[in-house]
Amino acid sequence: MISSDLHEAVRQLSAGKLVGIPTETVYGLAANALNPEAVACIFEAKNRPSFDPLIVHIGQMAELDRLVTEVPEQARHLMEAFWPGPLTLILRKSELIPDIVTSGLPHVGLRMPKHPLALRLLQSLPFPLAAPSANPFGYVSPTTAQHVMDQLEGKLALVLDGGPSQVGVESTIVSFAEGSPKVLRLGGISMEELHAVLGEAIPSQLSQSQPSAPGQLDSHYAPHRAIALLDHGSAAPSLAKGETWIPFAPHPAAKESLSTDGSATSAAHRLFALLRRLDYPEAATMFVEKAPESGLGRAVNDRLMRAAHRA
Ligand code: TXA
Ligand code: MG
Repeated sequence: MISSDLHEAVRQLSAGKLVGIPTETVYGLAANALNPEAVACIFEAKNRPSFDPLIVHIGQMAELDRLVTEVPEQARHLMEAFWPGPLTLILRKSELIPDIVTSGLPHVGLRMPKHPLALRLLQSLPFPLAAPSANPFGYVSPTTAQHVMDQLEGKLALVLDGGPSQVGVESTIVSFAEGSPKVLRLGGISMEELHAVLGEAIPSQLSQSQPSAPGQLDSHYAPHRAIALLDHGSAAPSLAKGETWIPFAPHPAAKESLSTDGSATSAAHRLFALLRRLDYPEAATMFVEKAPESGLGRAVNDRLMRAAHRA
């Protein structure tokens, strides 16, 4: 059921049930982060491997102290600059966080989302929410309440409708697990923005065969249809029957484009909905032109590369 009833969402979450929640990045599949049985239901509903830890969402700074044992100075600066917002920080967890949330790791991913309804929900609850993106493992993330229902109906109590997600790609993940910060996933906060706050570039570790974030898996966020990527600025490809061309900016010869105005912000906002809409089973390859490799464009290109990758 899709609903805008905040009180019903509070009731269901308090009863240990799963609720789809809007955030500014993508929709999440939420449960009480301090209730291991409720968290286990998330893994089951998503068909998510148990080695893949969940992000814990908080509604106010005061919650931080009981969830983590230390906050490095640079992490504090990043929180001050970007919370609430699309940034997840990986910090040493306290005993309060059940091991199932972090897949047994001593560190937990934390973020304070910016979506007003998500914030109100979190501030109405006496516990934080564990929430991965509300899609079956490995598929495109949802950016509307209907996307969540399309794939998880029957597996959750309700989806709280907060309209289309504004940012459209997931949060940027910065890990402090090894002391100095490292970017594990590109997302709604750009490398340039992190650099500006910390006064130095942060190294990244975005792809691995033994990933610490499955968003680091070479194939992830993948539709069923084949995707071929074109460098930014490429000319229109010649298409065979059934194939689709999606340029980065609107073009008279193309029905669809990634952005509506040539900006990476628009491309990020539209990306996952577009991939879902064009993912009909009989269709041939879609040729997608990449974003310029800067700012939010880097996160868009990261998602496109993983969506295009075939294992
Ligand atoms: O924008 C977002 O971050 C969305 C919304 C719902 O908040 N959530 C999201 O969750 O994208 P999910 O589970 O789809 O991706 C979270 C990533 C996973 O790849 C996971 O491995 C990584 O974060 N992660 C979480 N906790 C971690 C930890 N303790 N150490 C390393 N990676 C962690
Ligand atoms: Mg995900």
